Amino acid sequence: MLTFRLPFFYLLLLLAATTTTTIAQAYNATEHFFLDCGSSSSNTINGRTWDGDENSKFVPSNFITTSFSSKPNSEDPPVPETPYSSARIFSASSFTYTFPVSEGPKFLRLHFYPATYAGRNQDQSYFSVSSNGYSLLTNFSAFLASSFLEKIRKDAGFSALPNFVKEFIIYVKDTQSVNVTFTPSPNSYAFINGIEIVSMPQNLYFNSKDPKSVGMTNGPVVTNHMALENIYRLKMGGRSIPANEDTTGMYRSWEKDDSYIYGAAIGLTPVYQKPIPYTTETPNYTAPEEVYQNQRSMGKLSDSYNLTWILPVDSGPVVIPVLPKEQVSLAGWGKYCHRKGTMSEIIDPKLTSVIAPECLKQFGEVAVSCLKEHGVERPSMEEVVWGLEFALNLQEDAETTVGEPMSENQEPRFLMEGETMTTTTDDDVFSGSSGIRYGTSSISSSNDGFKSETVFSEILKPAGR
Ligand SMILES: *[C@@H]1O[C@H](CO)[C@@H](O)[C@H](O)[C@H]1NC(C)=O
Ligand SMILES: *[C@@H]1O[C@H](CO)[C@@H](O)[C@H](O)[C@H]1NC(C)=O
Ligand SMILES: *[C@@H]1O[C@H](CO)[C@@H](O)[C@H](O)[C@H]1NC(C)=O
Ligand SMILES: *[C@@H]1O[C@H](CO)[C@@H](O)[C@H](O)[C@H]1NC(C)=O
Ligand SMILES: *[C@@H]1O[C@H](CO)[C@@H](O)[C@H](O)[C@H]1NC(C)=O
Repeated sequence: MLTFRLPFFYLLLLLAATTTTTIAQAYNATEHFFLDCGSSSSNTINGRTWDGDENSKFVPSNFITTSFSSKPNSEDPPVPETPYSSARIFSASSFTYTFPVSEGPKFLRLHFYPATYAGRNQDQSYFSVSSNGYSLLTNFSAFLASSFLEKIRKDAGFSALPNFVKEFIIYVKDTQSVNVTFTPSPNSYAFINGIEIVSMPQNLYFNSKDPKSVGMTNGPVVTNHMALENIYRLKMGGRSIPANEDTTGMYRSWEKDDSYIYGAAIGLTPVYQKPIPYTTETPNYTAPEEVYQNQRSMGKLSDSYNLTWILPVDSGPVVIPVLPKEQVSLAGWGKYCHRKGTMSEIIDPKLTSVIAPECLKQFGEVAVSCLKEHGVERPSMEEVVWGLEFALNLQEDAETTVGEPMSENQEPRFLMEGETMTTTTDDDVFSGSSGIRYGTSSISSSNDGFKSETVFSEILKPAGR
């Protein structure tokens, strides 16, 4: 049964970047910081040395009065020791880590293990994280995020532990520091288990002309004043590559794609056995050889099928900075129009005269329910399909029985958490939904037939989500 939570989002799909530099050579990240928060010792694990943050030069001098360290409840499941066996907890005001770095693009990775710390209630952990003027996480619950991710991972057939990493890329300007500020929401506490900062080549993601959104001829250029959050970094075919086996030295983890493929047709996964001839346009550091040696191919052109990936996402509105305030975020704009009852203004003008108002209303309700702040509050894919089918019925009814009032018992039946629906299978989950697809990335034919993708969502400045 399909149990993905419904995404609502606009994703910036970047192909594993090809970049323009003058020489093809290995990239050796010039800066690495691996900070084990709440710990006082150093541990080397898989080639990375994590230093405890206690008495480190990255914490403010008053850290003893503004935070405390804690160990997770020992009955919790077996997550990796480092950096998850300790956390730093912040319960009062903001707390800022400051890392001295050179100017340039950096990965900022926040490691979270939501657990019971010092007997604190999980419901009371909502917090925001900002860095160098970017709002990265707003009123974030690591507990809710973890349940969402665990669900996706379980559905995708991976073993699901509660720890996870939020990965961002930011461009550090001449301030030459990365400041990471944790601010608990009112009556809440914040926590962090590990902070990782790794430098990257200048044009890997930022200011590169080549990566394009799928289906577009011009790529959006990521400029120095944008921050991005990585949502997925998928490798097509073959195995997943864990962060410590990323031969480019940037500790990027590459997840295998097969569990995200929608439908029975998964294509072919031939393996290229020879070394990859990296070029100046696609240098050695863009991705490990294995990423390029594996592929997912569609086979002969005569095999007629579509290859579709469905990637559930938790949140992340699209930003269009040139529009009026209420239109800046498409998701926010949709919610605004729904509240105002002006949904008809934002739909394709060709639909305005043909869509039945009750159908549009139902459609809007489905969309808005998918925009709830936290993934676990949103309907499952089945519930959405149900809601959309209901919208379609309303449209069909309106087309046949003109002017008849809507009956009370036609209320959409959105399932509650835990309720099950027995009639829907993976194969018919989209039936009757008028071909509407959420969160899909498809290729319908392709000569080379393979892509490896990193999916980032843009973070707006200054208010993130
Ligand atoms: C990369 O840099 C690190 C630290 O600067 C150094 O220890 C390591 O030997 C370098 N690796 C290569 C392959 O140059
Ligand atoms: C980070 O904080 C330090 C100390 O408060 C400040 O000097 C520096 O300008 C800040 N850097 C950024 C990028 O905000
Ligand atoms: C944070 O989210 C929780 C749960 O959705 C909500 O109850 C709370 O009001 C939010 N707090 C802020 C400051 O937005
Ligand atoms: C890049 O090339 C160097 C040698 O030139 C090699 O040591 C390194 O493993 C290569 N990196 C990748 C990602 O293939
Ligand atoms: C593939 O997708 C396209 C666009 O959604 C659709 O028109 C076409 O019928 C699909 N083909 C198959 C074989 O499913």
